[in-house]
Amino acid sequence: MATEAAIKLKAIEKSYGRQPVLRGITLEIARGELCAVVGTSGSGKSTLLNIMGGLDSTYTGTCEVLGQRLDKLSDTQLSHFRNSHVGFVFQHFHLLDHLTVAENVALPAFFGRPGKGDAAGVVDPQLRAYELLKRVGLAGREQDYPNALSGGQKQRVAIARALYRGPELMLCDEPTGNLDSDTGRQIIALFDELCHEGLTLVIVTHEERVSRAARRVIRLEDGRLTAATSEDGAGAATA
Ligand SMILES: Nc1ncnc2c1ncn2[C@@H]1O[C@H](COP(=O)(O)OP(=O)(O)OP(=O)(O)O)[C@@H](O)[C@H]1O
Ligand SMILES: [Mg+2]
Repeated sequence: MATEAAIKLKAIEKSYGRQPVLRGITLEIARGELCAVVGTSGSGKSTLLNIMGGLDSTYTGTCEVLGQRLDKLSDTQLSHFRNSHVGFVFQHFHLLDHLTVAENVALPAFFGRPGKGDAAGVVDPQLRAYELLKRVGLAGREQDYPNALSGGQKQRVAIARALYRGPELMLCDEPTGNLDSDTGRQIIALFDELCHEGLTLVIVTHEERVSRAARRVIRLEDGRLTAATSEDGAGAATA
């Protein structure tokens, strides 16, 4: 199953009222791929990412992610799917300021069914949080509160939280948008490492340094795919 695509979209269309936002997106992303989604503001990048992550179910077309047809799942099934298979990272970190860094990372332990990462509830959430914080280079900061951290450190906390349940797919919307270039580079290096460990990453970005690091770049223009490149030339564009 390792060669199976992580994401297979076919003829995805979505509108807000009469305004078409995605106009027939067909693409595949392989497992273990680090894929950037680029395009001007309003081209539909976040909308596409939300569909891939099962956050949005109001579209037509087929959306298969990690072998599951998301377009056929109910809202409850979608939320189980997200909790057990997908990690999300956003531009504004979305940490809870009144919880410590370790508590923020362990938050997923308290939502949904136990996942792979928390070993059916056997693993102590605090131990798991400490292990993940070490993994993202934040050992020693576990008991700090988010407001004592820099932007890059906050984003690493958010990444550790996204990894809590051992997701197979990580979806990131402008994850370096709020970071200076050195910090952004560190975050990209971390994504690259995670990808080498087998995680599939899809990263929406405006920044060229992110798309340069990606082995695959998907370009959206006005809700259409205009180019999809990869090292081996696979994944041709559909217009
Ligand atoms: N909730 C909404 N209601 C109405 N229109 C929306 C809504 N969300 C997005 N849109 C519209 O859909 C289009 C695509 O939005 P989307 O957020 O996917 O763009 P984007 O490529 O992520 O842009 P940005 O780079 O600015 O984040 C835009 O024209 C936007 O105005
Ligand atoms: Mg967006």
